[in-house]
Amino acid sequence: MNQINKFPEMCLDAIEIAKNANIPSYQFDKMIICGMGGSAVGGDLLKDLLRDELPLSVEVSKEYHLPAYADEKTLVFAISYSGNTEETLSQFVDAVERKCKIICLSSGGKLREWADRLKIPTIVLPAGFQPRAALPYLFLPLVVCLQKMQLINLEEELKEAIEILGEIRLKDYNELADDLKDSMPVIYSDFGAVARRFKNQLNENSKTQAKADVFPELNHNEMVGYENKKMNRNDSVVILRSGDESQEIKTRIEFTEGLLKDSVKSVNEIWAKGKGRLARMFSLVYIGDYISYKLADLNGVNADEAKSIDMLKKELKEKINLVEKLEKRIGSQSQ
Ligand code: PA5
Repeated sequence: MNQINKFPEMCLDAIEIAKNANIPSYQFDKMIICGMGGSAVGGDLLKDLLRDELPLSVEVSKEYHLPAYADEKTLVFAISYSGNTEETLSQFVDAVERKCKIICLSSGGKLREWADRLKIPTIVLPAGFQPRAALPYLFLPLVVCLQKMQLINLEEELKEAIEILGEIRLKDYNELADDLKDSMPVIYSDFGAVARRFKNQLNENSKTQAKADVFPELNHNEMVGYENKKMNRNDSVVILRSGDESQEIKTRIEFTEGLLKDSVKSVNEIWAKGKGRLARMFSLVYIGDYISYKLADLNGVNADEAKSIDMLKKELKEKINLVEKLEKRIGSQSQ
């Protein structure tokens, strides 16, 4: 809970760190953001944030390999908070071999070590957070880098977002957390990345199953599952209202709420705050994060642990040790 209260200050710090970083003004015609879990959320948010603004293809790649089109005209952000996530390291090595333009974000680990060895610019993040709690550091530097390259200008939006986060910090979202307890949280929004972030935070912090889906796509599949009234009695549906939905999306939300209300446990709306898209997205992220911590308390679990993720990473290291193989590929690049 402590760290979440510092979120607005972490945003200011993240912006400062990125502004002071030595980032080349790369020329590129497409962008791929590589990362997993908490380290991928910044990419997801950036993609949604700039969808109507940046006339470039942006892909968030959560895989072992870069897509086939990645080439020397591709900007690759390789993001791993720990710097030791094998999927991200593997994509980083692909990016090096394909001569992509690369910027790394990491607090250390192999990613930082290899980037330093190959003189690849890295934004070094402060250590000591859970990756998912370090979101300001994993997202805002992306915005700052694109600003430095004069592709966007979101200075005013950044200021507004940070002010609004400060206001949210003073509010209490206990009632919503109570409602989600012992039920299946179902998160819908036309801000797809924000809905997914909330779901992931409920999974990792609150140790609960959760679902997320996005308007308008969910009206073509997910919604139909609610025709079966017996199956969904325990669902607590939360609709994250982005605040600038088109008439079409508003009509879809109203229709969906009407369809669900008699078959689920509850339907609640959380409204975004602020004018700019960044403030509206980030306000919902912050409220969702708060609720996930509150629900962790109610569930009596430690939000700062994710034991099964740690166990799997250990098992992969023992059984396969991909990082060792990647290290050899990196070695041949630096000679
Ligand atoms: O939030 C978490 O702890 C996870 O989702 C991690 O972000 C994920 O396992 C990837 O690790 P890292 O962020 O260190 O690359």
